[in-house]
Amino acid sequence: MIIAVDGPTASGKGTIAKALAAHYGLPHLDTGLLYRAVGRQVFLDGGDPDDASDALAATSFPDSLLGDPRLRSEDIGGLASRVSVHAVVRQALFDRQRAFATQTGGAVLDGRDIGTVIAPEADAKLFVTASVEARAERRWKEMQERGEPHTLEVIVDDLRRRDERDRNRAEAPLVAAPDAFVLDTSDLGRDEAIAAAIDAVEDAL
Ligand code: C5P
Repeated sequence: MIIAVDGPTASGKGTIAKALAAHYGLPHLDTGLLYRAVGRQVFLDGGDPDDASDALAATSFPDSLLGDPRLRSEDIGGLASRVSVHAVVRQALFDRQRAFATQTGGAVLDGRDIGTVIAPEADAKLFVTASVEARAERRWKEMQERGEPHTLEVIVDDLRRRDERDRNRAEAPLVAAPDAFVLDTSDLGRDEAIAAAIDAVEDAL
């Protein structure tokens, strides 16, 4: 069983994907982390994230980088969004994601293009979304907890910029698969969102 969970930053897709993986006893891959690792590596190499060959070189980041908590920072999220526009980068990360999706027993993957590109045959597809305001507020709280203080305005601007880049890129833009269940979490608490996601998966199976 393959479950695809896509959606914009801070929509709740990561929380939902993790909960679905626990509920169904499946392994989970946060594919954003791969793009974040490429963004971090291009920075460590002194490369240009907007240059396709610099970004491609950074796809051979060491696996140990995936365990680095700094990957979750806003700065690296911005770099990830820039390296992810390059077709060569997406291609280089494809096999790894595809292998995870098709492993025996199934998997849950979350990202931007799981239901459209990585696993279009997924048994259940969710497109998790929420208003910019709701997402900014969640992100702001997370950042307060991590001791990364930013104003709400800065976060809203950053989310809008990233959404625009992810939605308008030529390669694998952020878009709901036609057969995805769209789950708007703006007015849902964590547990309500998880319950709605499980219902949607059950309906799809
Ligand atoms: O989900 P997360 O915020 O960690 O993703 C960071 C960036 O990586 C996104 O803004 C997006 O540009 C890119 N990404 C992608 N395709 C994925 C996952 C993430 O392009 N499957």
